[in-house]
Amino acid sequence: MTEAQTTPPMDQAAAELFADKVGGMLNGGAVALMLSIGHRTGLFDVMNGLPSSTSQAIADAAGLNERYVREWLAVMVTGGIVAYDGATKTYRLPAEHAACLTKGAPLGNMAVYAQLIGMGGAVQDRILDGFRDGGGLQYGEYPHFHAIMAEDSGQTVVAQLFDTVLPLAPELPGRLEAGIDVLDAGCGSGRALAAMAKRYANSRFTGYDLERDAIDRAKQAAAGLDNIRFETLDLTGFDEVERYDLITSFDAIHDQKDPAGVLARIWRALRSRGIHLMQDVGGSADLANNLDFPFAPLLYTASCLHCMPVSLGQGGAGLGTMWGWETAEAMLKAAGFDAPERTVLEHDPMNVWFVSRKE
Ligand SMILES: C[S@@+](CC[C@H](N)C(=O)[O-])C[C@H]1O[C@@H](n2cnc3c(N)ncnc32)[C@H](O)[C@@H]1O
Repeated sequence: MTEAQTTPPMDQAAAELFADKVGGMLNGGAVALMLSIGHRTGLFDVMNGLPSSTSQAIADAAGLNERYVREWLAVMVTGGIVAYDGATKTYRLPAEHAACLTKGAPLGNMAVYAQLIGMGGAVQDRILDGFRDGGGLQYGEYPHFHAIMAEDSGQTVVAQLFDTVLPLAPELPGRLEAGIDVLDAGCGSGRALAAMAKRYANSRFTGYDLERDAIDRAKQAAAGLDNIRFETLDLTGFDEVERYDLITSFDAIHDQKDPAGVLARIWRALRSRGIHLMQDVGGSADLANNLDFPFAPLLYTASCLHCMPVSLGQGGAGLGTMWGWETAEAMLKAAGFDAPERTVLEHDPMNVWFVSRKE
């Protein structure tokens, strides 16, 4: 064996430091799963309104079983989320922590994203199949998926729809006021489209999604509005010509079976002067550029456990969550949009927004 082939001696201190880091990740992952439980049980919201309280008082206020709540509280205390007074055995959620863990939290509710960890765990065995045979999954295999997406959309799209999102194309609010035809492609639970339909009574709104479950939720969100319709439809076969003035796609292109084909169909479905407004994940197509991208490990995890397999499951491209803004821009241009405008909005650092116009 030459000198160049000799394995360098292990740096013991670096190895121990790394083992500590992995230990921190295990604790962080465990707490993240329990953040999801705190969100879904409503415990964070309940605790936000309570003074320092016993586990029994917290469980009663939440309508939950005390034994489970006490065990969850132990995770929250040792994980540094909840303050604990050992003398009185009482627990308190500090206002500074409630600020990113509760409904309507001023810093955005990060517990919403903790739900992705639990969802991924629920399909782990199916994902292991994919590692062996390259196969994909169906949307319906992911528990609670459309509810999670609706909460995500509520924060990144709906909350900012009228103040920052629609004004990305400055003429849009006026045209919506006057009355245009709008399609939301991959509308999920339809919250964004319903909010627009409510605000712009002169415009007509259509939402398409592959998933019946999502469309049922969307119909509920739009109950009572008569300028909106939803339909279960596979956008891969979507074939309408010059029917819409605005087509939106919120976080709904990268995990399509055929993202490039759908963008071409969107271009064809727009009338002249039509606008495509698209939100999608803002990472780069080049892993080396994503080392400091916000939440990159979480996004690549969501990709490996969801976005890539659901596209593969439709027999599709499997581009994954981090397909990259470069890929998106190139596909928009190939679809016929000459000059897509790209923006990152302050409230939504994980995503990129494209406004693309048809002449
Ligand atoms: C990440 S979710 C986003 C949903 C919604 N726009 C939102 O922001 O909450 C992507 C959506 O695209 C839909 N989708 C995926 N492939 C589709 C296809 N081939 N045809 C129609 N919808 C599709 C999924 O069912 C899902 O609701």
